[in-house]
Amino acid sequence: MKKIAVFASGNGSNFQVIAEQFPVEFVFSDHRDAYVLERADKLGVKSYAFELREFDSKEAYEKAIVDLLEEHQIDLVCLAGYMKIVGPTLLSAYEGRIINIHPAYLPEFPGAHGIEDAWNAGVDQSGVTIHWVDSGVDTGKIIQQVRVPRLADDTIESFEARIHEAEYKLYPEVLDGWEWRESNASKQ
Ligand code: GRF
Repeated sequence: MKKIAVFASGNGSNFQVIAEQFPVEFVFSDHRDAYVLERADKLGVKSYAFELREFDSKEAYEKAIVDLLEEHQIDLVCLAGYMKIVGPTLLSAYEGRIINIHPAYLPEFPGAHGIEDAWNAGVDQSGVTIHWVDSGVDTGKIIQQVRVPRLADDTIESFEARIHEAEYKLYPEVLDGWEWRESNASKQ
């Protein structure tokens, strides 16, 4: 079984969906007061939180993260609303083992406001993407994505809710596929 760590900066609804269906070794947040930490407590998932400003550099901050990942022998890091760009220290240690969920159909609407940007552009569909993390912002190779329509009577709130519902299906789907690949490989 792959050992999963989830990184989240705030609310943590995607973390919750993952943790309800898969064993999560720990959740990391870059905000000590993030709601995701309460969710982790309730679900009995270990959590760690520290903030970039508590370190002398982003390198030192990410080194502390890498230490945690190594200590727990994490195979796969799932970013789920982790609002920091992954820097070279974390990336060089874990590239090829970090995935992210983005609330738009990449390469459409990358960046921190994928839902709002799609809404403001007046699209009739957007989507959700899970992709590998590289040094760019939402530029890594796409693993799986799904389209989400914008309906005629949508408000931004109902549109956003539909995007989130699609996220809650897509992350588990991708992780399910992962377990299958691993158990298949170990049979060979
Ligand atoms: C999600 O929409 C995710 O795609 C984006 O940030 C949001 C996080 O929501 N990167 P939550 O913290 O999982 O509730």
